[in-house]
Amino acid sequence: MALPELGTVFDNQYKIIGSLGHGGFASALLAEDISSQEKVVLKFPDLAQLGDPAVYERFRRELAIGKLLEHPDLPTALFASEGSPPYLVLRFVEGRPLAEILGQKGKFPEQQAVEMVIHLLEAVEYCHRKGVYHRDLKPENLVLGPDGHLKILDFGIALMEGVPRVTWRGFSGLMGTPEYMAPEQIKGERGGARSDIYAVGCLLYHLLTGRPPFTGDNPLAIMHQHLTSDPRPLTELCPRLPPGIWAVVRRAMRRRKEERYGSALEMAKDLSKPEKVDLKWLNAPDSPLITVLTENKVPWGIIIGSVVLGLVLALVAVFLNWHR
Ligand SMILES: Nc1ncnc2c1ncn2[C@@H]1O[C@H](COP(=O)(O)OP(=O)(O)O)[C@@H](O)[C@H]1O
Ligand SMILES: [Mg+2]
Repeated sequence: MALPELGTVFDNQYKIIGSLGHGGFASALLAEDISSQEKVVLKFPDLAQLGDPAVYERFRRELAIGKLLEHPDLPTALFASEGSPPYLVLRFVEGRPLAEILGQKGKFPEQQAVEMVIHLLEAVEYCHRKGVYHRDLKPENLVLGPDGHLKILDFGIALMEGVPRVTWRGFSGLMGTPEYMAPEQIKGERGGARSDIYAVGCLLYHLLTGRPPFTGDNPLAIMHQHLTSDPRPLTELCPRLPPGIWAVVRRAMRRRKEERYGSALEMAKDLSKPEKVDLKWLNAPDSPLITVLTENKVPWGIIIGSVVLGLVLALVAVFLNWHR
């Protein structure tokens, strides 16, 4: 399916005025709604997704979530068409894509980075209280607004409490860049509030240093590091950074989700008072989340167990013979 061209009017309603790029699932076009003269975004699923009935489910859910959330840093969804092609209409979020800014200018000044993340956590907390978990927070899905706040986009793979899970025919729709992907998501769990907190920890690291905590040549190499490696200490890369901020990132990025912050608000509170943060998170070892299979290991447990069992059986036999 070809996308509507620049300058044309799509579905008698939307004048196409620009292209906003392409995520892992859809292409986004900037348009003007002719009746309201409002700037909107039209999302069209990729060709490869079109045969999958889950596309409709995904748009329906993105619409439901976009209608539920009323927050200045979250997108408002307006309409989902189930025609051919299906498309989703969202209110346009003004700002510069964070991925583009990070690509051009690298890191942010420390105070600005921390303030941006505190505001972001407030929006994340709002979502969680509404029972919505984004599960794909990353620079490609964030925009820096003119008010200095990060705006969250793309609730395409978000989880909404009480709504059944979407089953995808293909794998590609869920496979984004794994730079901020929480270990439990890599292991195949659904992900939830604490997966978002992990991603925000990765984001703060990225904003402060200009690079994500784990990098690699391919997605699998990055995923492996999330499960087994510790990021290079922030205090080495940003020597003037208060150690409390590094402790917040360490805690947000604990591999076991139970050890992370219990809520986005709790993390935001620590970030606003780094001098009060418990520094134990700097030295608490974070064990790898994979079981190492040792090959050719002598199964001593089985050998000793068998010998003991044999001896017991022999003794029983001797005892029975004795009393015959
Ligand atoms: N409401 C919006 N306002 C502004 N830009 C948007 C909006 N929605 C999407 N975009 C832009 O379009 C790109 C792709 O949209 P996204 O929702 O992330 O699609 P995908 O599900 O394919 O990842 C985003 O990275 C962003 O740059
Ligand atoms: Mg996206």
